[in-house]
Amino acid sequence: MSEHRGVFIAFEGGDGAGKSTQVRLLAERLRARGHTLVLTRQPGGTALGQALRGLVLHGEPMTPRAEALLFAADKAQHVEELIRPALGDGKVVITDRYTDSSVAYQGAGRDLGADEVHSLQMWAVGGLVPDLTVIVDITAEEGRRRRGEVHDRLESEEDSFHEAVREHFHALAAAAPDRYLVVDGSADPERLADEVWQRVEPLLEEGGAA
Ligand code: TYD
Repeated sequence: MSEHRGVFIAFEGGDGAGKSTQVRLLAERLRARGHTLVLTRQPGGTALGQALRGLVLHGEPMTPRAEALLFAADKAQHVEELIRPALGDGKVVITDRYTDSSVAYQGAGRDLGADEVHSLQMWAVGGLVPDLTVIVDITAEEGRRRRGEVHDRLESEEDSFHEAVREHFHALAAAAPDRYLVVDGSADPERLADEVWQRVEPLLEEGGAA
C-alpha cells in the first residue's frame, strides 16, 4: 500500500523512445474516465525546474557530479511543490521521467555509480517511489535515428552511453517487477497504450484515486 491517496506513475526510457506519446495516450484514457490528472516532466515542471532545465540541458559545460546535483535539485523542488500535494489530494500524477532517469543517465551513463546516485535521488525526493514505472524500451541506434537532429547535452552522447542507460533501466525493472512495466518502444503506440492501461487500471481501483 502506498503512502498517499493518489496514484503516481512515471514514464522512463531512452531519448527518442516515444515516452511522451505514451504519456499523452494514458492521459487521454484517464481523462475520458473522469480522473483528475497532473501531468508533468523532469527536468522542468516548476518555475525553478524550468530554469534548471535550461542550465543542465543547454547551459555551460559541467562536471558529472554537478550534473547529478542539478537533476536532483529539480526533483526535490518538483516533489515538494507539485507531486506530493497532488497525491495528497488523491490525484493521478504522471511524470515524464523521474529518479530512475538519473540512476541510469548519471549513475550508469556517466559512471558515477548507480547506488550512489540512487541514494542522492531518494534523499532529494524524500523517498517517494512511483506506484508504477513504465519503461519504454528502445535501442540506442533506433533512438538516435528517431531523434534526428541532436537537441541537448545528453542526447548528443555516443550510442555506448545510451546502451549503458538502456541496460540499467532493464536492471531496475528486473529487480522490482511488481513496480515496473517494460514495453517495446518500436511497437505500435496504441498497442503499447493497451499494455500500459492493463497495469494502470487496477492501481486506480486500489488507490481510490480521484
Ligand atoms: P527531455 O527533453 O525531457 O528528453 P526526453 O523527451 O527524451 O525525455 O530531456 C531530458 C534529458 O535529460 C534526457 O536526455 C534524459 C536526461 N535526464 C538525466 O540525465 N537525468 C535525469 O534525472 C533526468 C530527469 C533527465
